[in-house]
Amino acid sequence: MSEIVIEGKRKLFGELEVQGAKNSVLPVLAATILCERECVIHNCPKISDVDTSLKILKDLGVDCKAEGNTVTVDSSVINDYKISESLMREMRSSVMFLGAILGRTKKAVISSPGGCELGPRPIDLHLSSLKKMGAVITEEHGFINCLAPNGLKGAEIYLSFPSVGATENIILAAATAKGLTIIHNAAKEPEISDLADFLNSAGARIYGGGSDTVYIHGVEHLGGSEHIIIPDRIVAATYMACAAATGGKIKLNSVMPSHIVAILSVFKEADCDIKVSSKSITLTASHKLKRVEKISTAVYPAFPTDAGPLVLSMLCVANGTSVFKENIFENRFRYIDELKRLGAKIKTEGNLALIEGVDKLTGAGCKATDLRGGAALVCAGLSAYGKTTIGEIQHIERGYEDIVGNLSHLGADIKYIKG
Ligand code: UD1
Repeated sequence: MSEIVIEGKRKLFGELEVQGAKNSVLPVLAATILCERECVIHNCPKISDVDTSLKILKDLGVDCKAEGNTVTVDSSVINDYKISESLMREMRSSVMFLGAILGRTKKAVISSPGGCELGPRPIDLHLSSLKKMGAVITEEHGFINCLAPNGLKGAEIYLSFPSVGATENIILAAATAKGLTIIHNAAKEPEISDLADFLNSAGARIYGGGSDTVYIHGVEHLGGSEHIIIPDRIVAATYMACAAATGGKIKLNSVMPSHIVAILSVFKEADCDIKVSSKSITLTASHKLKRVEKISTAVYPAFPTDAGPLVLSMLCVANGTSVFKENIFENRFRYIDELKRLGAKIKTEGNLALIEGVDKLTGAGCKATDLRGGAALVCAGLSAYGKTTIGEIQHIERGYEDIVGNLSHLGADIKYIKG
């Protein structure tokens, strides 16, 4: 199996372009299913979740090709409505293809996404919303069958929790449904606005994407579009955490500082100097990071759950004890046992973690348990004395384009060993 090997204790310095957002490109690729003309999508990160999405599109009969960071999709012909079990297993978030396939072909079959590395990840809100829009849904033998023989119709939907995926699935299903759909208590993450912008540029009529009430006036057909994916705010947080944990200084270009206000305030509290311009961030770490009194994850615009493992990893070498509370996912602390192998002092109780900063971490062998937990190990390895070897890096490759190359460029001693 492939591994990442790090010789730690090198300060990171330099400049980096931040990749396009994983959580934008995945729903946008799903949305191309609704478009009956060619779509050209720029700033697509080269990550395995994008590869899986392209495999799903190809399986459905869609013509798509990737060249550099541009993906061209021609969905004028679609000849299937099922996502195979193996592709669903590769990327559980492929559930967001459901609304798009159903909208385009009036039927869709996916295998049940089941539990995953962050704990149980139910899709009840996705399914109940699609039912409200007229879909008939049955679940058997691990598959979810959706039918809308007369097409989907607009509905007024109140989400009991502002789920990102459910909001996206409803927007996708509603874009070409008959009539008006209103989503109350919608998710407000920037990736929702990006999806709405993409669909609108293809002819959809979506208003309020990125606010808590979204209005979608269904249109009969969507055409083509040329779209640029927004920068990945979690990848930006990752490189900032790596620079901070090593006491370095980096400038990130192609970022949207306005998308990461809550994350920046944590870095400031940890005593990092942060300078922002409209599309760049410069972080200068202090000699010794300070503890952060309390970080609590919540829906946008509050501190995002996905950035949790990164800042927690950085705080392992801060002065004093920091408190971290995870409020979105039930089982997001599996990577903490791996951090402890490097000498991190962390106590967990339920969804609380107490991070007692230590003078030094020491390199060790460890395994990525999930995407962001894996990136947290990279961050810890960079700040540790000696050699850290990280296995199961397929989790990291799901969301980071060339993390090894980028960190080397910033001065890290890091290698990719192909297994
Ligand atoms: C998306 C992101 C993920 C991020 C998460 C929260 C993508 C591809 N993934 O995941 O990186 O961590 O948002 O910002 O964009 N829930 C239900 N029922 C549902 C749906 C969700 O109970 O039908 C619960 C989940 O179990 C979880 C919470 O709602 O506890 C948040 O989930 P959600 O916002 O849906 O996250 P995802 O869309 O899966």
